Amino acid sequence: MSLLEDLRAALGPAAVLEGQEMGSKPASDMSYTGNTPPRAVIRPRSTAEVATTLSLCNAAGVPVIAQGGMTGLAGGANPSGQEIAISLDLLRGIEEVDTASATMVVKAGTPLEECQQAAAAHGLFLALDLGSRGSCHIGGNLSTNAGGIRVIRYGMAREQVLGLEAVLADGTVLSSMNRMLKNNAGYDLKHLFIGSEGTLGLITRAVLRLHPPPGEITTMLCASATYEEVVALLRRAQSDLGNIVAFEAMWRDYFSFNADALKLRFFAAEHPFCVIVESTASREAIETFLAACLDDGLIADALVATSHAQARQIWSVREGHPIEALPNLLNFDVSLPIGQIGHYAEACTAALLKRWPKAHVSFYGHVGDSNVHICVSTLYGPGEDMHSVDDIVYGVLAPYHGSISAEHGIGTLKRPYLHLSRSAEELALMRRVKSALDPKGILNPGKVI
Ligand code: LAC
Ligand code: ZN
Repeated sequence: MSLLEDLRAALGPAAVLEGQEMGSKPASDMSYTGNTPPRAVIRPRSTAEVATTLSLCNAAGVPVIAQGGMTGLAGGANPSGQEIAISLDLLRGIEEVDTASATMVVKAGTPLEECQQAAAAHGLFLALDLGSRGSCHIGGNLSTNAGGIRVIRYGMAREQVLGLEAVLADGTVLSSMNRMLKNNAGYDLKHLFIGSEGTLGLITRAVLRLHPPPGEITTMLCASATYEEVVALLRRAQSDLGNIVAFEAMWRDYFSFNADALKLRFFAAEHPFCVIVESTASREAIETFLAACLDDGLIADALVATSHAQARQIWSVREGHPIEALPNLLNFDVSLPIGQIGHYAEACTAALLKRWPKAHVSFYGHVGDSNVHICVSTLYGPGEDMHSVDDIVYGVLAPYHGSISAEHGIGTLKRPYLHLSRSAEELALMRRVKSALDPKGILNPGKVI
């Protein structure tokens, strides 16, 4: 392929990997639904090299796919076999932390945890956080508008971005490295690239907004009997404790499955709901709050972690690695109005169990930001595939006017269902934006729209 020869000539032979040299990582993200390697992997070392790569691929009409930590769950970084993958691995590092403006400038291939640590080393706090912090890249977090466990307090990835540098399909470098919280000078173009999953441009650098550190975080585990009590607990925590920094609800089947497998037990009895609440309020305020919640019947039991190790144990149940081992596990990521999540969970469970009486169905999630995750493990019958589960999960969601993706993105897995969450007019405008920015359709084709 002469394009690969041109890329070798432009970037050096070591920047182009083919065959065995690519390893298995470029074939699939963590949805494990990808099974085809890309045609080659290109490893640019700078924005200029990304621009050269895109301009050569665009001229040749060869599709490209940006790849970072490959921790996505929607198949958004999976090749179809036709694409050249552009790995951001070598575009790594913190360029600057500016304590006066509370910003940091980072390269797209920097692992999230490295960004968090650099902010902390300067007495500041990067508010984006999710389980894959050690391996996901900030560029992937931004291109998918990742959510995670601090959204309730600080918003999604989009809210942490002040400026962005992206390379367009034809190799044009668009540098919008704004550092100000206020800047209303025309269209805010960075939002074209945040959450568009590499279909409109390739993110190479970003200016991130930092916060003061939240202070010492206390982790509580609360047990409630009904979903309505969980919502009442949320609102009470927000009013009595000030800014809570995490709120993670686990329905009984999710909590018990993981806690049993991990041989962890926190309460004498099993409860329909267990909720992690994290707050920076004083111990005294937390004790008073929990006593009031017990008195008012919002919770049936509660414990306050007394050590970092105990807080980690509580979070290990939420992280749910035992459940990940269930056969054919599907992990959904829906959002709907907070007050209706409990009702949706019941209706969705009933519909799935009616079809597959032995299925594992369990719910957990951030809830306070309207997001709930669903774990479904069922052995499909003959002639059925995973889409038969999708059809039920999204079919039951439709009357709630929820979203088929709260935080993981559309990728390939949810593309057939995008019309359930976006109107015909919205989809038409998405297609116009796509064809304006990527007229040859080389950027991550087959994803999102
Ligand atoms: C989580 C991922 C699955 O919340 O979004 O753990
Ligand atoms: Zn989540």
